[in-house]
Amino acid sequence: MSIKTLLTWFEKQGRHELPWRKTSDVYHIFLSEVMLQQTQASRVAEHYYPHFLQKYPTLQNLADASLDEVLGDWSGLGYYSRARNLHKAVQLCKEEGLPHDFKELQKLPGVGRYTASAVCSFALNQSIAVIDTNINRVLKRYFALMDDKLVLHKAEEFLNKEFPKEHNLALMDLGSLVCTPKNPTCKECPLSFTCKGKNEPEIFTCKKKTQYENLELYLGVCLVDKKLALVKSSDKLYKDLYVLPPVEPVEEDFIASFKHSYTKYRITVSLYKTQTTPLEARYFSYEELLQAPISSMTKKALQFLN
Ligand code: ADE
Repeated sequence: MSIKTLLTWFEKQGRHELPWRKTSDVYHIFLSEVMLQQTQASRVAEHYYPHFLQKYPTLQNLADASLDEVLGDWSGLGYYSRARNLHKAVQLCKEEGLPHDFKELQKLPGVGRYTASAVCSFALNQSIAVIDTNINRVLKRYFALMDDKLVLHKAEEFLNKEFPKEHNLALMDLGSLVCTPKNPTCKECPLSFTCKGKNEPEIFTCKKKTQYENLELYLGVCLVDKKLALVKSSDKLYKDLYVLPPVEPVEEDFIASFKHSYTKYRITVSLYKTQTTPLEARYFSYEELLQAPISSMTKKALQFLN
């Protein structure tokens, strides 16, 4: 019974306007799912997804682009390893296209159970249970499960084998719109009648608090003929992006300080004028910086320079 009321609710209340819900193109859905990992749907829908579709309408188009170009388009979206893995994955699939198989998809770089299941379900309507953080919370509450390890089995049992795609999307939207982490609106929930967790929904959502780490960065600003020196980063955080070169702080050369949050880091960035440019630096004009593979942190730093 509840499995059907869920679909009725979804028809009326689901987020059907999301652009990746209007296609069954495997590559487009794959692209959207990679972007949606750890990122708000609105940010992806408003800029990055339409931009990529316009610039790289086919998987081959994306595979043929250079990594620098792709990172430039990803600039500001964060978690840049997603872009590197995406680029690698489409290069591996350039001849034959993306696999239509749950296990084969998971062999691609950066593709885990979630992304593979989302592609199989949302693009191919395969009978596979999708479990993202929203669905995980909904199912934990609905079945009163205290342990995440129990969710997959229940999700597979509960899956609507006739309408697997709509069922998965409905659970996702229910978690996002009704069965929210704090103050769920159980009165509006199509599953509340049979929900085992509705009386104490918060006990099933013991979210781990992020342990933030402070980071202090001293970065050099070197302008030559109005071009800015940047170096290709090799450390994990901003790998393959162009960043301001690290410097020893010299008080007289201080320009400005600002704070920036990225993943688990609370970063304090201090900018210093410098004349000594690293050998491997590349020089970017203002126009080139607009399409360069740089992070939001570097973009913020640019605001302090004229
Ligand atoms: N629709 C399909 N996949 C989605 C996701 N990961 N987030 C939000 N809406 C989606």
